[in-house]
Amino acid sequence: MLTIGLFGFGCVGQGLWDVIHRTHGLRSQIARICVKDKHKSRPLPRNAFTFDRDDILNDDTINVVVELIDDAEAAFEIVSAAMRKGKAVVTANKKMVATRFRELLEIQQETQQPLLYEASTGGSIPIIRNLEEYYDNDLLSGVEGIVNGTTNYILSKLSANIEARYHDVLREAQQLGFAESDPSLDVDAWDAAYKTVVISAHAFGAVIHPDSVIRRGIATITPFDVAAARSHGCDIKLLSRSSLHNNQLIAWALPTFVPLTDMLSRVVNETNAIRLHGAFSDDQLLIGKGAGAHPTASAVLSDIAALKYSYRYEYKKLLLNDIPQFSTDISTRVYIRGNDNQLNSIEFSDVEIDHKANNNRYLIGETSIRALVESEPFNSSECFIAIA
Ligand SMILES: NC(=O)c1ccc[n+]([C@@H]2O[C@H](COP(=O)([O-])OP(=O)(O)OC[C@H]3O[C@@H](n4cnc5c(N)ncnc54)[C@H](OP(=O)(O)O)[C@@H]3O)[C@@H](O)[C@H]2O)c1
Repeated sequence: MLTIGLFGFGCVGQGLWDVIHRTHGLRSQIARICVKDKHKSRPLPRNAFTFDRDDILNDDTINVVVELIDDAEAAFEIVSAAMRKGKAVVTANKKMVATRFRELLEIQQETQQPLLYEASTGGSIPIIRNLEEYYDNDLLSGVEGIVNGTTNYILSKLSANIEARYHDVLREAQQLGFAESDPSLDVDAWDAAYKTVVISAHAFGAVIHPDSVIRRGIATITPFDVAAARSHGCDIKLLSRSSLHNNQLIAWALPTFVPLTDMLSRVVNETNAIRLHGAFSDDQLLIGKGAGAHPTASAVLSDIAALKYSYRYEYKKLLLNDIPQFSTDISTRVYIRGNDNQLNSIEFSDVEIDHKANNNRYLIGETSIRALVESEPFNSSECFIAIA
């Protein structure tokens, strides 16, 4: 019998309550729920809740902690304390997992307690356990995908109406609940960077900090950029990418020109998709809901069910001798829109297209990731940059 102490009863916590009560055959029960705000009205009786985390952490009848709060620092304290108290942990907190990855590994080692976090990356898409188990022996060369529903929703709307403006579409997304009132975590690609960290660790055994992920968001996109991509037969998507080049890891979360013939261009709105390139399996694409109460709770539920057979991540790829090192010494083709000074400041090894129209100018050419990241346009709040 799994007796669960649940932290958080917001979107995902309430989703988990629903899916657990609609899932027959899983011998588990939520014994107590810890939340923060004493004045909020709740859909369950008051005695289901506590505001003191120790009521769960010190309860020896609770053997599983499910952490679904929206505060990464508090989550780390709860998760580490729970494991040290001998409890298995399931979490959906990508920011906590990505920023505290090494410490969480050490605590798992020290306590021998499982920590599962399928819901942290790709929502309902079962990516982590697949990378751990199914892609254990296939030689993976890359994992890329649409891992942020908010930006995919905005970019889909901009693509559907080529005259639409970013700020109008963002406002509409906020009104419909597809974007937070503070959208920076999503539109500045932090959320995608956290997921890139988790994927890099499970795909290639490379643990990097989210600050190292090459990251640029979509907030500077204009109709000119959408039209430019379209003139090259592409849509713009925010892609997370972890891939190997001569056993060096590149890890980025960047806007990308995706050809209209590519399946990823047909993944629209809040849907997520992750493509794996394997030496023997070739390309495989997983598509599903990347967020939302029930889809996210379904991944949490799957982790809870896995605890029934004592499942834990073995992190086999982290134990390999030749773990790839993160590198920015890789050349890539990029689209950059900016003014003459900004564009002239970039070291291109080859410029293929230099296009000017209506006071707008863009270049498409080959440059190294290192030169790109150090360039003025990469750090400007006006230019738009995409992998082309
Ligand atoms: N929403 C999604 O679609 C989605 C998808 C994938 C992953 N996630 C991840 O899932 C987690 C939860 O997201 P959410 O959307 O469910 O958040 P949410 O709706 O904002 O709910 C957050 C919950 O956490 C509680 N809380 C905050 N700080 C707490 C603390 N220190 N101690 C106890 N409870 C605390 C809040 O309590 P009160 O009720 O008292 O305010 C609330 O119940 C986050 O890590 C998020 O990144 C979410």
